Amino acid sequence: MLSGIQPTSGSFHLGNYLGAVRQWVALQETHDAFYAVVDLHAITVEQDPVALRENTRVSAAQLLGAGLDPDRCTLFVQSHVPEHAQLAWVMNCFTGFGEASRMTQFKDKSAKQGADRTTVGLFTYPVLMVADILLYQADAVPVGEDQRQHLEITRDLAERFNTRFGQTFTVPEPYIVKETAKIYDLQEPSVKMSKSASSPKGIINLLDDARTSAKKLKSAVTDTDTVIRYDQEKKPGVSNLLSIYSAITGRSVHELEQHFEGKMYGALKTELADAFTEWVTPFQERTRAYLDDPAELDRVLAQGAEKARATASRTLAAVYERVGFLPAK
Ligand code: TYM
Repeated sequence: MLSGIQPTSGSFHLGNYLGAVRQWVALQETHDAFYAVVDLHAITVEQDPVALRENTRVSAAQLLGAGLDPDRCTLFVQSHVPEHAQLAWVMNCFTGFGEASRMTQFKDKSAKQGADRTTVGLFTYPVLMVADILLYQADAVPVGEDQRQHLEITRDLAERFNTRFGQTFTVPEPYIVKETAKIYDLQEPSVKMSKSASSPKGIINLLDDARTSAKKLKSAVTDTDTVIRYDQEKKPGVSNLLSIYSAITGRSVHELEQHFEGKMYGALKTELADAFTEWVTPFQERTRAYLDDPAELDRVLAQGAEKARATASRTLAAVYERVGFLPAK
C-alpha cells in the first residue's frame, strides 16, 4: 500500500485527515504500508523554499501525531528517494499528451492560473503520482474521491507497461471510504474542503487553535429546515456535519440521526465542536512533541527513506532493464 500528501500549507485540513490520513493509520496494522510527504509535487505551483522545508517537517510531524507508527509503516519524504523522479521520467514517455490533458485537476488548476503561469511540472503531476504508486507495487491506495482519476491513469499506465514489457507492475485499486471520501466546505457545502479554494471560515485546519475551529463548526452553513437527517442532495450542510461527527466518534450516521431526533441544529454543532476539540487537542500535543524534537523526526525520516529506497530501487532496476537502458558497470 502507498499513499501521499502534499506539504503545501503547514496544517492539514479536516478533509485530508478524514478522507485519507485516518485510513492510513488503520491500514498500517494490516498492510505493508508506505506513506510519503510529496514535496516534489508541491513545487508544481510556486513555493517559498523556507516555507516548503518547514511545511515538510510539519507534515511529517502531523502524520506521526495522527498515529502513524514508524515501526509499523514506512514514512518518508518523496525527494529523499530519487527513484520517484527517475520512474516518473520513464512513465512520462509512455503517457499520451492527450491523456494527460484530460486530467480534470490539471484542467481546473491551469484554467485558474492561465497558460503562462502553468508549469509543465503541473501538467505531468499525475505521472509523478503514477511513479509514487508503482514503485512500491501497491495494490491499494487510500485517498479521497478527488484522486480517483489519478488512480485510473495509474492503472492504465501499469497495464500498458505490463502488456508491452511483461509483468512489471502491480495494478493498484483505489481505496476510498465512501462515508468520508469527500468532506465539504463548511460555508459552501456543495464544494469540497480544499487548501486552495476554501474560504478561511469554510476550512478546519488541524493545527489551528481548537477554539477557532469549534467556532467555525458552530457557524457552519445548514438550511432553513430543522430536522437533523442525512440527505446529501437536499441537506448538504447538515449531512457534512453528520459525516464528520460520525467519523470522529465512530458512531454511525443512523445512530446519530436517532440521537438528535427532535433536537435543533445548535445541539449537533455544539456536540460536534466538543468531540472535535477532544480529538484534536491530543493530536496537536503529539504533533508538537515531534516538532520539538527535530533530531528524532530526522531519524524517523532517514530510516523511512532507507526502507523506501530498498523497495523502490528494485522496481526501478526492473523497469530500466525492460526499457533497454545499458546497465552502469
Ligand atoms: P492532497 O495533498 O491534496 O490531499 C491528501 C489526501 O487528502 C484527500 N483529501 C480529501 N478527502 C476528503 N475530503 C476532502 N475535502 C479532501 N481534500 C483532500 C486527498 O484525496 C488525498 O488523499 N495528489 C495527491 C498526493 C499524492 C498521492 C500520491 C496520493 C501524490 N502522490 C500517490 C496517493 C498516492 C494530493 O495532492 O493530495
